[in-house]
Amino acid sequence: MVFNLNKQLALFEEEVAFRPIHYLGSKLRILETISDIIDDIDPTFGRVYDIFSGSGTVSYYLGKRRPVTSVDIQEYSRVLTNAVLQPFCEKELIEIKSKLSYFKVTTLQECIEPLVKYEEWALDKANKNEVYEICELVEYGALLPFLNKERENVSDDLKAVIQKTVDNLNEMGLMDSVDSITTRYFGGTYFSFQQASELDNLLNMASTFEGRLKDIVIAATLSTASEIVNTVGKQFAQPLKAIDSKGNPKKSLVSKINKDRSIDVYQKFEEEINKYLSLEKGNFNHISLRCDYSDALDNLTNDTKVVYADPPYTRYHYSRYYHVLETMCLRDNPEITKVQFNGELRMSRGLYRTDRHQSPFSIKTMARKAFKTLFSKVSERNVSLILSYSPYDTEKESTPRVQTVSELLEMASQYFKRVELFSIEGFVHSKLNAVDKNFEIPTGAEILVICTEPTGGGK
Ligand SMILES: C[S@@+](CC[C@H](N)C(=O)[O-])C[C@H]1O[C@@H](n2cnc3c(N)ncnc32)[C@H](O)[C@@H]1O
Repeated sequence: MVFNLNKQLALFEEEVAFRPIHYLGSKLRILETISDIIDDIDPTFGRVYDIFSGSGTVSYYLGKRRPVTSVDIQEYSRVLTNAVLQPFCEKELIEIKSKLSYFKVTTLQECIEPLVKYEEWALDKANKNEVYEICELVEYGALLPFLNKERENVSDDLKAVIQKTVDNLNEMGLMDSVDSITTRYFGGTYFSFQQASELDNLLNMASTFEGRLKDIVIAATLSTASEIVNTVGKQFAQPLKAIDSKGNPKKSLVSKINKDRSIDVYQKFEEEINKYLSLEKGNFNHISLRCDYSDALDNLTNDTKVVYADPPYTRYHYSRYYHVLETMCLRDNPEITKVQFNGELRMSRGLYRTDRHQSPFSIKTMARKAFKTLFSKVSERNVSLILSYSPYDTEKESTPRVQTVSELLEMASQYFKRVELFSIEGFVHSKLNAVDKNFEIPTGAEILVICTEPTGGGK
């Protein structure tokens, strides 16, 4: 049964949905339901705002039938949604592919050759059961902590190849350059050095395009990064811990290290960009914005009929899981967060940006006000709202939610005359339930809070 459900989901994803990156809390399973409810609320096929657009999966699905404005505070999300919403044709793909050939052999790759060769040698050794060197490189090979003098304890061989690489980058003016950002920030930790430099080459190629095409090339590069990243679960929240606290290499990780780091970046990029080409797109005036939800709601366009909101609900910030993609888009040489380690301040293992977005929806003391702003601003504009909610499932020991659904319903009913709950258990669409204090809220099932008949900003 589970197998069949997974198979159905895979088919659905292949045929009508699209998931640009591995994403936490993807709405893949409920796309049809969201779309049906929006059609019910607005049979005129007016504009929908997807105001926490994340991976762009919902925007893409809705954008086939109606104009979409997607909004997210993160630049990577703007890039992904723009890429899935805007047109892209075969002729443009051919242009991209022919340009790519000029970006495959670069000064950057000459500079990092010592580390690339060392990594290949270490992987080779690992295949013969000598795993220390590759685990050491995964754990301690990143350039930034080395430059910050945090690598006194690594082996002389690794130190020497990192130093040589740093010297080369300095000599060729690539040390602070945007052209080497993925390599300098994430090589060794999240990707092999070879892969990181090839991702940089793709981003450099993207920067020769403008607007829509630039976003499509960057988006396909982000999709590639998401596929190849060498972490558990394909998120960017935590790098592999390849050396344990006693200094021993973790042999059990070696096959994963080998598998992920052997993926060919250009081949994967080609697969990914072909997916963007095959997307079926509606011929509408779609818009993708990087901004705060509240600002977006202040500027809703007059053709807007429905707002779909899928805000974060846990205290974990989304920005932590996708910081690598954000830096690959912004290419802004961000500062890295520091943590206390044996009485010293050291760069975080995950190499997180210090300016990672802290969402009010994920902060207990701020969430209520953030939701109030959401309900009131949508209501003021006389627009309907659909709010996604994934409840806390004690059985699955999921992370507790910052707001309960009852709190949300109570708040929503101050701004909308009709507030309904729709619960989705797997693929089964259960009946529409009127809001009722005694309504039993299903745990684990996805919930949609449907707010119609706005009061215009409060009862
Ligand atoms: C649950 S995810 C959305 C997932 C999305 N529906 C999908 O299917 O991929 C929440 C999103 O809200 C965004 N976000 C958090 N705070 C925000 C804010 N103040 N304004 C706009 N977007 C915000 C995060 O960056 C994240 O992408």
